[in-house]
Amino acid sequence: MPNKIAVSGLKPSGELHVGNYLGTLKQAADLQKRNYKRFYFIADYHSLTQKYDPVEKRREIFRMAVDTLAAGIDPKKSTIFIQSHVSAHSDLTWILNTITSMGELSRMIEYKEKVNDGHVPNAGLFDYPVLMAADILIYGADVVPIGEDQRQHLELTRTIARAFNSRFGRTFKEPRGLYTETPRIMSLNDPRKKMSKSIPGGCLFLSDTPKAIRDKVMRAQTDSNKKIGYDPKKRPGVSNLIDIYSAFSGVSTSGAVRKFEDKGYAEFKKELGDLIVESLEKIQEKRIKLLRDKAKVMKILDSGAEAARPIAEKKLNEVKRRIGLI
Ligand code: TRP
Repeated sequence: MPNKIAVSGLKPSGELHVGNYLGTLKQAADLQKRNYKRFYFIADYHSLTQKYDPVEKRREIFRMAVDTLAAGIDPKKSTIFIQSHVSAHSDLTWILNTITSMGELSRMIEYKEKVNDGHVPNAGLFDYPVLMAADILIYGADVVPIGEDQRQHLELTRTIARAFNSRFGRTFKEPRGLYTETPRIMSLNDPRKKMSKSIPGGCLFLSDTPKAIRDKVMRAQTDSNKKIGYDPKKRPGVSNLIDIYSAFSGVSTSGAVRKFEDKGYAEFKKELGDLIVESLEKIQEKRIKLLRDKAKVMKILDSGAEAARPIAEKKLNEVKRRIGLI
């Protein structure tokens, strides 16, 4: 039986942190152990829909590629490339645009949230989900590893695939979402907010030194209840730490509570700090090596694009034939 196909887009976003790692990269790397044919790309075109600086953009894309490789995405097992290097993605987007309704796009929660947050909505931001659909459908993905926040976009991808198929004949597979099991990782010192680089004190960066990681964990907010327990609504601080412990160790949250409930916060935090430092050690070593070897990273990305291009172009040509362009 042929391997199933997994497609995953990673939006380049400043400095990577433990929340990004556990949310997408770790799952993506774990997926390699299963029998999937994988396409991973840095979604640079998607990232243009938000404000940016060109110098910073170039750096961000490179760092995202480095972090992806460091986290264990193996170019021997997966095709890794930069989205804009395979222009068939945007060609297909244009065609899919013409079968996607404005009404459907205006219901997208992510779009509405961004606009509410004060983003000036450019046409690209509105059209973001159609580019994502093209990314996925062009490789005939069976599964798409994503976070919960991308569920609506994946549903739209399926809707677009169905609409195209029913009008022009079966061309696209309807992909299934493979949702990350890791819960949202919250800020260590403001656990009602998502971990993010905008609150650096509560954010564990992949580039942090062991000391910085241990310090941030030791200072993490908990609560006045002396006993360690898990209740994300009422006790977000300690529950977040348990989630992080569980994600890195593979121990369930209830198992982690059992292990630490008779110990104090200090002991739990010390063990958690050690666990994170240890888990990130290999990634950090690899990261530093790759940061210094730009030529190697670029070569990996170039051969990834070369491998992806003919597959994407074949699908694009099939689509063009279906709709009467060739
Ligand atoms: N929109 C996704 C995110 O914000 C990134 C993305 C772009 C993606 N294209 C994709 C994810 C294709 C999966 C498949 O995380």
